[in-house]
Amino acid sequence: MIVPRVRVAAAVSAALLTALPLAGCAGDPERRGRRIVDDTAVRTVNPASVAGLTALTRFEQDTTRRVYAAYPRVPGADALTKRLAAAVDEQIRPFTALTTSAPPLADGGVPELNVQWSLTAASHQVVGVRLVTWQYLGVSGGEARRTLWYDGVTHTAHSSADLIDGRAGLTALAESVRDRLGSRANPAQVRAAEATFPSLAFNEAGDLVVEFGDYTVAPGSAGRVAVTLGREVYEPMLSAFGRRARDAALAPPARSAASAPELAAARPVPGPVDCAHAKCIALTFDDGPGQYTRGLLRTLAERRARATFFVVGDNAAADPGLLRDAAAAGHELGNHTQGHRDLTRLPTMQINSDVQRTQDILRTALGKCPTLLRPPFGATNSTVAGVAKSLDLVQVLWSIDVGDWHVRDAGKIADRVMERARPGAVVLLHESRRPTIDAVPKILARLARQGYSFVTVSELMADREVPTGGHFSGM
Ligand code: NI
Repeated sequence: MIVPRVRVAAAVSAALLTALPLAGCAGDPERRGRRIVDDTAVRTVNPASVAGLTALTRFEQDTTRRVYAAYPRVPGADALTKRLAAAVDEQIRPFTALTTSAPPLADGGVPELNVQWSLTAASHQVVGVRLVTWQYLGVSGGEARRTLWYDGVTHTAHSSADLIDGRAGLTALAESVRDRLGSRANPAQVRAAEATFPSLAFNEAGDLVVEFGDYTVAPGSAGRVAVTLGREVYEPMLSAFGRRARDAALAPPARSAASAPELAAARPVPGPVDCAHAKCIALTFDDGPGQYTRGLLRTLAERRARATFFVVGDNAAADPGLLRDAAAAGHELGNHTQGHRDLTRLPTMQINSDVQRTQDILRTALGKCPTLLRPPFGATNSTVAGVAKSLDLVQVLWSIDVGDWHVRDAGKIADRVMERARPGAVVLLHESRRPTIDAVPKILARLARQGYSFVTVSELMADREVPTGGHFSGM
């Protein structure tokens, strides 16, 4: 079941917020007082207000492709999770097939597929999840948008078109959308069909936001194509479920879930290690937090091992309590960007906002700004370095990558780490995968027998002078 939340007055949230240091991290947009208003921006729900929500991620990286996809798992809404998994798979499969057989890109880059999620509603009755897929294949890049809905009463998942009342509703919707789009779109593409409307959601004002994938109703040069319809226009088009979805989407914000019991209290945090004298190694876990993070924290605590978690902002926002638990246990939390895009393909402003949003999430949860950035896929250039410098971040890559993302056998992952382990190394692992999680106790036990101390990346580079914007990969 989906757990409804108690709402609290804004004053209480504000009081809680003031308990944390309010100074932003370097480059904080709040400090610059910038505000962007776009009426086609979809209203989103803070995922931290849904108890037990975790992000599920898929990651693949080799010379032919870079894939990162994430979507939420809402407890009790299994039909939705299944539908989301299928939707993500529908993106990854053809992309993998295409990139496996395609010649290398003319620009020397690597094809990229990225799927990010946000919640468009989360009540005990209705959940909405919007997926934005970015695909880059060399000649063209494009975004597809899809919003899926879940009916908590009937326990069924729905496409966006199910918000609309049958054939008559779709006909009226298509007509209104054609009017609003005018000459921006090819009217022949806006048909009264389910497939025409993959993403229906709502904005802050309560308007219906109708958005389309790039190239679907207009030329690619048009960018994101979206229109809003006012309540008086869309109300007669809604199905009964559509009305409930609308009510859920526009419900006042719920407060964040209470943080889970502290894990850290059980064991004392290990003291700092001087890596100038000790045999140190830094294990790093990317792409979380997620479904395995709590178990991983227990495994690390049993060995009194510290590690570094490079978290994806979208996933981190779902569970600030988990971030606090990890920090309280002595682990370091680093920035792995908000949506795990290859930063070298983005304009400076977008890199900045992608990194900044995750800084804000971590700062709000932990009361301090992270100092480490791991660029997704380890892809960096002078622009990324410049942004890192402006945000007081050191870029952290790695010295040991055993390709855990495609190894199914935990023993093999552990063996590969052991073959390459050496003092001062930074080990790249992905916490979103079961085999990797299962390999960790083996890795810890075997390295401990060889006398290694498990330290954070900041501890490991304590005696180095790594400037902000510069990078550190370990030995
Ligand atoms: Ni990653």
